[in-house]
Amino acid sequence: MLRKLLSIFPLLTLAFLSLAAPLEPRAPGLIDDLLTGVLSGIPKLIKDILDATVSGRSDQISSKPLSCTVDACCIWYDISAELTMQFKDADDQCNDNARGAIRLGFHDAGAWDKYSPKGGADGSFLMNFGEEKRPENNGLQNIRTVLRGVQSRFNVGYADLAQYAHNHATVTCPRGPRIRTFVGRKDATQAAPSDLLPDANDPPETLIELFEDKGFTPDGLIALIGAHTTSKQRNFDSSPANVGKPLDTTPGIWDVEFYNNTLQNPPDSRIFVLPSDRKLAAYSQTQREFKRYVGDQDDWNEDYAKAWIRMSLNGVTNLGELSDCTKTLPAARPDGI
Ligand code: HEM
Ligand SMILES: *[C@@H]1O[C@H](CO)[C@@H](O)[C@H](O)[C@H]1NC(C)=O
Repeated sequence: MLRKLLSIFPLLTLAFLSLAAPLEPRAPGLIDDLLTGVLSGIPKLIKDILDATVSGRSDQISSKPLSCTVDACCIWYDISAELTMQFKDADDQCNDNARGAIRLGFHDAGAWDKYSPKGGADGSFLMNFGEEKRPENNGLQNIRTVLRGVQSRFNVGYADLAQYAHNHATVTCPRGPRIRTFVGRKDATQAAPSDLLPDANDPPETLIELFEDKGFTPDGLIALIGAHTTSKQRNFDSSPANVGKPLDTTPGIWDVEFYNNTLQNPPDSRIFVLPSDRKLAAYSQTQREFKRYVGDQDDWNEDYAKAWIRMSLNGVTNLGELSDCTKTLPAARPDGI
């Protein structure tokens, strides 16, 4: 009897092992699943931001120390100075590179959902996996080249640079939030999944579900979509009359005009309204939140910062190894000057 049991034991072990370690890598799931139990340091800070007990914005600012041997943030002071030159126009508003960087941060981190074992804020978009050739990424080729130049000069991780550039660009725009900025992510080893970014022809139901699988409520989606305050369209509608039209009346400023402009019927002739934005502004589940941000810059900035911190950590699992390098960002300009 014992003999018989012992002889099938290796078989049982094998069966158990194959259950415990399936061939497909396990998806990390939502960040909330990683932030349980007793937390300290950066994971605790991230949890508090996501729970809205601590703000996702910070004015903590510093200048580069003389000696750089102990500060993990040191290199980012130099990158910050470089990005300010790249993102700021002569009129002190934010420019096409800034718009591009804001969108690129989204197309890197957003190509992920809770079921994906790859993708997220992993820098894959900036690396050589060919994502820049996908149709949904049209228009991002220029800024990708600019940021690859920054990467090769300063030799930082692609994943961190994509998110740092987004956060730098938002605060470089007049009135933009100064979003808490973490570094220490791991870079990708393969391309992101190709079907997880939104399509401007999608109906609200589809968009809400797509963002829900990334950990966002419908309110979170409405906060995030406000990034179209500083946007232009060039590829969605390529008719000469519409190419280069902004998505709000003040594309160089991070303001709440986008929400007001999108609600106007008929819209201002200077702007282009994406069908997805128009539908979300009118949809039963999202209309209230869309209207709430009209004239409410501070609430929107606060909600955007919180939602973006979640976005910028999609698929990131080494939360305890991250550093907070917010202090290296330029100062915010809440009054727009
Ligand atoms: C429902 C979700 C969304 C849809 C359907 C959507 C769609 C689009 C489309 C079609 C464009 C125009 C691209 C072109 O013609 O070149 C655009 C631009 C842009 N989007 Fe979104 N987007 C969405 C959400 C977001 C989010 C969450 C962000 C946050 C970062 C964002 C940031 C931008 C920016 C900054 C631009 C301007 C890019 C530039 O001017 O170069 N979008 N988006
Ligand atoms: C919204 O836009 C309309 C039309 O341009 C304007 O009359 C109104 O004052 C704006 N409201 C706010 C709160 O900005």
